[in-house]
Amino acid sequence: MDKDKELAAEAAVALLSNGMTIGLGTGSTAKFALRAIARRKLDIRGVPTSRQTAELATALGIPLADINQVPHIDITLDGADEFTPSLDLIKGGGAALLHEKIVAVRSRLLVIMTDASKLVTQLGKFRVPVEVIPFAVRYVEEQLAGMGASCSVRPGVVTDEGNAVLDADFGLIADPAALGARLKGITGVVEHGIFPGMAAMVFMGDNGTIKRFPQVSGG
Ligand code: 5RP
Repeated sequence: MDKDKELAAEAAVALLSNGMTIGLGTGSTAKFALRAIARRKLDIRGVPTSRQTAELATALGIPLADINQVPHIDITLDGADEFTPSLDLIKGGGAALLHEKIVAVRSRLLVIMTDASKLVTQLGKFRVPVEVIPFAVRYVEEQLAGMGASCSVRPGVVTDEGNAVLDADFGLIADPAALGARLKGITGVVEHGIFPGMAAMVFMGDNGTIKRFPQVSGG
């Protein structure tokens, strides 16, 4: 729901302060974050995770930095396609998974913003996006089939690095980190959309309220 995505984005943007280098995610929730950042008129610089995000940030007057010119990224604000309460994610529904993961690993804090539709007890209902160099598509399809996954090439999609995206259905994923490691081991796979335990927190908009993960119990 858009209103809940916007709420989550506003909660995440409240974490930002002047002087920070911010990773700027991709997708509809990340767009709400960009608008909220622009409204706060902070003295920050952004490292975009896609051309689409770079264009919107520029239009909103958010200064951008080249990822290879910054010593670190303080916080990255990004969306997700699925997340579990233990903060495993699937990302890449917008085909920006490779740059999103590179920005995430360079970040001190990865903060995810979603609505309640993205919360799952176990990853895997959303098919795992796998970025593949075009020359290897057939081979990777065969390897994924050998792993028991049905998959299809995302039609008409070329990533910012000129690659194809395969969407792979593994069913419910018992061990996201182990599956991610297997996918990374396939020749021709550049990256996959499993982000196991990489997020520090998730802000989830839920019917007009904000829930934060990990949830603190007791009190
Ligand atoms: C793009 C992503 C997005 O963060 C993910 O698809 C969520 O998108 P949205 O905020 O539009 O629901 O991973 O590659």
